[in-house]
Amino acid sequence: MEWTPDARELADLELLLSGAFEPLTGFLGHDDLHAVHERGTLTDGTPWPAPVTLRLPADVSPGDEVTLLDPEGLPLAALTVTAHEPDGLTSGPVKGLGEPEHGPFARLRRTPAQVRAELGGRPALAVTLRGPLDDLSEITATAKELGAVIMLLPLSYGEPGPAVVRAALRAKEQLPEGTIVVPVPLAPREEPEIDLELREHVATAYGATEHLAGPDPVHIPGPPHRRGLVVFFTGLSGSGKSTIARGLRDALLEIGTRTVTYLDGDVVRHLLSKGLTFSKADRDLNIRRIGFVAAEAARHGGLAICAPIAPYAATREEVREMVESVGADFLLVHVATPLEECERRDRKGLYAKARAGLIPEFTGVSDPYEEPDDADLVIDTTHLSIDAAVAQVLGTLRSGGWVR
Ligand code: ADX
Repeated sequence: MEWTPDARELADLELLLSGAFEPLTGFLGHDDLHAVHERGTLTDGTPWPAPVTLRLPADVSPGDEVTLLDPEGLPLAALTVTAHEPDGLTSGPVKGLGEPEHGPFARLRRTPAQVRAELGGRPALAVTLRGPLDDLSEITATAKELGAVIMLLPLSYGEPGPAVVRAALRAKEQLPEGTIVVPVPLAPREEPEIDLELREHVATAYGATEHLAGPDPVHIPGPPHRRGLVVFFTGLSGSGKSTIARGLRDALLEIGTRTVTYLDGDVVRHLLSKGLTFSKADRDLNIRRIGFVAAEAARHGGLAICAPIAPYAATREEVREMVESVGADFLLVHVATPLEECERRDRKGLYAKARAGLIPEFTGVSDPYEEPDDADLVIDTTHLSIDAAVAQVLGTLRSGGWVR
């Protein structure tokens, strides 16, 4: 079978394949993870500091071979499954199937073996960094003292990756002749000590005899009025989502300080999701498509308004993650007008048809709606005018600083 790992897993895969994670040759299973957590070693006693895991929800068994693909569908590696847990955790060795030679600064990538050959046994001071290096004098002095080559290892994982590589290339200009720059797509680990230990392991694989951890980036998110934002309305058909969403769009266009992308449920189903049914699988796909487009708009600082039913909590959560992963904010607005009221209004006549059995799988009648417990705003339009409802959302946007 084939599987596309997520971004973190792909980054770990690249390091496994390049040898940067040596002595690891594959993804870890439960026992090794437990040992890593308890003792900082694998079950066989080999020192190893951090989890390196892959989750494969599909059913596989020990001995199966899985082709791991990049998001564009290119085969990257063959995984031979040694264990598969009910939670998806899958362990096993990986073998490379091709060179992943694209992405920003791909030309700078080198395997640890290539870098070690280049160093030719000379002592090397590795500096791993995730942000700009402000104190180059300390690095220069330490390298001089050790008689070492300086090796900058920008940790180029994720959105800030290219900026970190640029920071390393800028620093190189002011460091001694012969300074090496090698991007390493190492995803940060949650616990700082573990992250540091893993950085040390990786630096050693590249031939470092000494390691300095560069400063972590001071993460200064832009002010909210410049950050991307997705306002995601969820609620039953006829609850007033579209009407409030449209009112919000118009109000924002009148204010004029933000660019607005509007993704109404019914509108999306005419083009982006044309042909999809109302089965759970198709609804989920519909919501993921909306989330994808909204996140793209928000990635560039835009404000996207979405107004589908989005009946499933897990799928709404996926959209939240998609949006947050591009550095934008996500606001969930539950239009909580009760079913009785939606049905009493029945503006499209759909509830009557659903009750008559003419529309199957109708949300609230013959299909589920999972009420959010994580909404940032809850609006019941039973006794509320549209203007008042729009004012509530706008009030939230103003008090959060998203709109000035
Ligand atoms: S979602 O479940 O995938 O989020 P979406 O918001 O795109 O739904 O579409 C909902 C709209 O489709 C409703 O407002 C209604 O007009 C129409 N519709 C047609 N069939 C159904 C159905 N079985 N369940 C809910 N809405 C339906």
